[in-house]
Amino acid sequence: VASALTGCSDEGGSTGALRKSRARTPAPFKTPLPVPSVLKPSRTQGGVDYYDIVQKPAQVEILPGIKTEIWGYNGQFPGPTLTTRSGRPIVVRHTNELEVPVAVHLHGGKTPPEHDGFPTDLILPGSGWDGHDAHGGDISRGSREYHYPLEQPAATLWYHDHRMDFTGPQVYHGLAGFHLVHDEAEDNLPLPKGERDIPLLICDRSFTADGAFDYPAVDPSPKGEHGVTEDFMEGVLGDVILVNGAPWPVLEVDAARYRFRLLNASNARRYRLALDPGPQSGNAFVQVGSDVGLLGRPIGHDEIQMAPAERFDVVVDFSKFPVGTRIAMVNKLDDGDTGKVMQFHVVRKASDNSRVPTKLVDFEPLSRSSATVTRKFDFNQRSDDGWDINGKTYDPERDDAAPELGATEIWRFDGDAHHPVHLHLAHFQVLSRNQNDPGPYDSGWKDTIDLESGKEMEIIARFTGYRGRYVFHCHNLEHEDMGMMANFRVM
Ligand code: C2O
Ligand code: CU
Repeated sequence: VASALTGCSDEGGSTGALRKSRARTPAPFKTPLPVPSVLKPSRTQGGVDYYDIVQKPAQVEILPGIKTEIWGYNGQFPGPTLTTRSGRPIVVRHTNELEVPVAVHLHGGKTPPEHDGFPTDLILPGSGWDGHDAHGGDISRGSREYHYPLEQPAATLWYHDHRMDFTGPQVYHGLAGFHLVHDEAEDNLPLPKGERDIPLLICDRSFTADGAFDYPAVDPSPKGEHGVTEDFMEGVLGDVILVNGAPWPVLEVDAARYRFRLLNASNARRYRLALDPGPQSGNAFVQVGSDVGLLGRPIGHDEIQMAPAERFDVVVDFSKFPVGTRIAMVNKLDDGDTGKVMQFHVVRKASDNSRVPTKLVDFEPLSRSSATVTRKFDFNQRSDDGWDINGKTYDPERDDAAPELGATEIWRFDGDAHHPVHLHLAHFQVLSRNQNDPGPYDSGWKDTIDLESGKEMEIIARFTGYRGRYVFHCHNLEHEDMGMMANFRVM
């Protein structure tokens, strides 16, 4: 652990300055795409499924011939996928066998506040003592049960660490996985299913010469000061792109439709994904879902732009390509190796009875007039040592908004850089971007939105579910760790 976390205090400058010696990386598009295993419940009782996850270090081969220590849910990176049913509650017992405190957040989940992974509600390593710390944090030792009612429609959710000040390094070490909620409306759609419904967790990482994750930050151990320093104001970028934990992988596909649940799980990197070559007819990606649900109608895109934590549920039709075609998925925001993501290799003809219907699910657009309150939040840099919301750095004991349970509110965001703004609990729709209509990637129910520098945007959010204290924050994890987070309390 220690070697992966060597300090950077005397180095200064950009992340690049620290990257002296690097592990050898494989040629792109050679490693087969892994698909994270689906976790089975340990037991079922009274209509509730109980799951057990142990957070622990593990040595895994990410780069060929060299081991990387990950911190993984069940020792896996990505963590095992949970597949659940809308309205069927589950309980996940997380046991912490790492050397650091953890908090687990189900991103996109409508979860009671005590189970939402509030940044000071920690599971400490070891065993023996549960209680509250001096600042009201709800502390468990060894393990903790998280209860998820899952009263929400089918969606691509994910779970990840949320420890205050240390989310960046802890997610970077591997604490992230998928949670797919299914429901009947989704079952009834003729979308690609089974082996042709694949979640893709995309993130970037750097590796030291001995294979360790190279997170350029201070010590995240319990005595450690802070997860990141001002040297990483823009966020930490890696030089290797991983999909489902494999570097620039390749997936052999049938000449048929596939559904991909794209998740940008990077700490700070944004992507504009495109296929190369794209289909002659255009519309490489047919979007069927957004962060927290299916769309009313599908939307064709040539490119998909994704900020950290956003999800795009898309269908790609490989029958538009001759058998034998190799199609790269590229990131048009970058070139060189980080401009490549993965490859699809069309290897055989196959039958396909899937299709994308013109109507997907009932979708209720929220009207401006249904909002009762408007709030304004500015996401800006604080002098040179962090990031603020409305000029304030994160304080777990301060509430900055108090929406009523069930209220619909308009929140206006403005900022000085790209900030992927995420609200816990409340799902929202985009009303406007830069005084204009929402952008091409703003459709549907969202929980994270890419705020652009100097371009005000408005969202309309519904605070349904539970009363209590929740966070909203920038999902650039270094910005979050450097203070760009605040609480709202549902009254
Ligand atoms: Cu995905 Cu508050 O986080
Ligand atoms: Cu930010």
